[in-house]
Formats: sequence, C-alpha cells, structure tokens
Amino acid sequence: MGRTYNFSPGPAMMPLDALHEAQENLVDAYGTGMSVMEMPHRGPEFTAIRDEAVALFKELAGIGDEYSVAFIPGGASMQFAMLPLNYLGQGRSADYVNSGAWGYKALRQALAAGDAATAADTRRSAPARMPRPDECKWSENAVYAHITTNETIAGAQMKDIPEPPAPLAADMSSDIFAVPRDYTKFALFYAGAQKNLGPAGMAVVAFRRDFAASASPSVPEILRYSTYIDEHSLYNTPPCWCIYMTLLTLRRLKKEGLETVFARNARKAAKLYAAIDSSGFWRGTADPEFRSVTNVTFRLPSEELESLFVKQAADLGMTGLRGHRSAGGLRASIYNAFPEEGVDRLAEFMKEFERKNG
Ligand SMILES: Cc1ncc(COP(=O)(O)O)c(C=O)c1O
Repeated sequence: MGRTYNFSPGPAMMPLDALHEAQENLVDAYGTGMSVMEMPHRGPEFTAIRDEAVALFKELAGIGDEYSVAFIPGGASMQFAMLPLNYLGQGRSADYVNSGAWGYKALRQALAAGDAATAADTRRSAPARMPRPDECKWSENAVYAHITTNETIAGAQMKDIPEPPAPLAADMSSDIFAVPRDYTKFALFYAGAQKNLGPAGMAVVAFRRDFAASASPSVPEILRYSTYIDEHSLYNTPPCWCIYMTLLTLRRLKKEGLETVFARNARKAAKLYAAIDSSGFWRGTADPEFRSVTNVTFRLPSEELESLFVKQAADLGMTGLRGHRSAGGLRASIYNAFPEEGVDRLAEFMKEFERKNG
C-alpha cells in the first residue's frame, strides 16, 4: 500500500523527503558508521544536530540571543506541569485562558501545582471560539499568563494574541510555524513536536532568559527549566531521534520559506472551509472568525453519515478524519507538512459524497 493522506491531529504527516533522508541514513548516518539512534549524545555528530536544530528554530521564530531553546521529553503535556511547577507555589498565581480542552488541561495542572485564575473562558462555546484580547481579564499580580494559540480538538484558533501585563506563555502545539506570529511577544512558548515539527514524545520549548531566571530553584532538577538551559538539553539522554527528525523538518521549512508555508496553509484551509460552506449539508463547528488554519472541524446531518464518510474516505486513502472522541463529528488536520493535493482530494470527495448522500 502506498502512503495515505493522513488527516490525523498528531502524530501527523511529516515531509516525505525528510522521511526518505532519514531512511537513507538510518543505518549509517552521513558516513558516521552508525545510526542517529546509536550516536553518543555528547559526541560531535549529535552535538552538531542539536545545535543546528536550536539555531534553525530560533531563526524561523525570529528570536535572538535573549531566548534559549530546549528539547524536553514528555510532549506538550509535560509543559502543562513544568510551567506551574517552575513558577507557582508559595502563594504565587498565574492567569490562564480557558479556551478549550487543551487550555483547560493546562489550567488543571496549574491548579494542582499552585493558584491560577481564569482570564477568559470559551471552553464550552458552541460554535467553538477563542477569547478576543479585549475579553481577557488579567490579574494584577500574576507571575505569568498562559494561552493556547490553537485548540486542536475544537478547531478554533487565536487570530490576535492578547498582551497581558504578566509574561506571556503559550501552548503552540498545533499551529507553530503554521501562521504568521510575532514570537518575541512570548516569554515562553512550546509545542509538542508531533504535529508540525517531528515525531511524538518531545516538546520544543523556547524561553526568554530573564523569565527562565525567575523560576523557582526548588523544583527537582529534571523538571527545572534552568537545567535544560544550562545543560543544553543534555541533562539526561535526550530524545535524539526526535531532535534529528525535527532538524530535518526545520531545514525544509527554512528552504521553502515560512511565507510560502503560511500561504499554502491558508489556501489549504480556505479550500476545505469553502467546501463546508458550499451547502447546508455540511456544518462547520467553529465560529468563522476563529476558524483554525490547521484543524478543520465539521459535521454531517447524522452520525451514520459521518461514519460512512470516514469509512469511504479511508477506502480512498484518506485517513484520520474522525473528530476527537470527546467532540464527535469530523476533523481534518492539515499541518505544515500536509500536502495540498490531499486537501484537493478531500474537497473533491466531499462534493461526491454530498451528491450521493445529500
Ligand atoms: C494544543 C495541544 N496541546 C497539548 C497537546 C498534548 O501534546 P502531547 O501529547 O505531546 O503531550 C496537544 C495534543 O494533541 C495539543 O493539541
């Protein structure tokens, strides 16, 4: 069987030529006589991989020497816990935007580690939406404010980033490098790698050094941000393969240019939303103002039709279209590496499906 168009929310499609490069170098990486999975993590070959990945990430984000970038195991969920562990406790509180399932999951970890206030709440909004900046109520003494730029399950995306008085932290797992953003607005931002960057199990975390320096020193070393900065992500044996695959993806993003990637992403999303809006047969589940560029959520008139749609699409090589188990419905995740031809194919199939079942 050939490759499918995999619309999964993550792990998600990676650039095909990156997979081929990894395949060619799996056993003997670039003439070193060993696989990247076997390299000493402190040796010159892997150090070069890590350093280039950090440099490219910073270049693409447009952040300078005032930021550090770390590769931290445990995915974005680990960051939900690490962030409050590093800054809360002893009466300190943070502001959280409760924008959906992921914002809420982050908030719950803050409440487990310390105090948190809800700056805005759109978690249960239907159609799904994000708080606008002027709808957020910030506390006076928050040590940081946390947002989720894209709610992967709901398919809602922040278009305007709020500017709270406290340092801003963001979960950007599902839209990092997918839309234009000013990353210098953030004191800390992170992304689980498995959607736009590489394989699962790791987050890329960028922090402004002054913010990192203000973290609590009483956190166990492996969970302490400064550990990852001081040790350049080598406190423990790092997820070497994830870092390597992330590097291959970042190289391609740079080669193509983010403007080209943004334009293609916008086109891909517009094609699917146009298909959804073309008739009353389909119903988008996100408020049009906040529709996500990377996760397109929609419904059909019945769950039976949705199941039929998922099955027939899979038979045609388009997989992963079922919505999250908590939300139901349908979802097409179309991250940076998702090919535009796959979106065209899905839009065509939607027309055909409506003709037969509408
Ligand atoms: C916005 C967002 N945050 C966090 C996560 C959790 O990421 P991980 O599974 O890497 O912990 C996800 C996963 O889908 C997500 O979409």
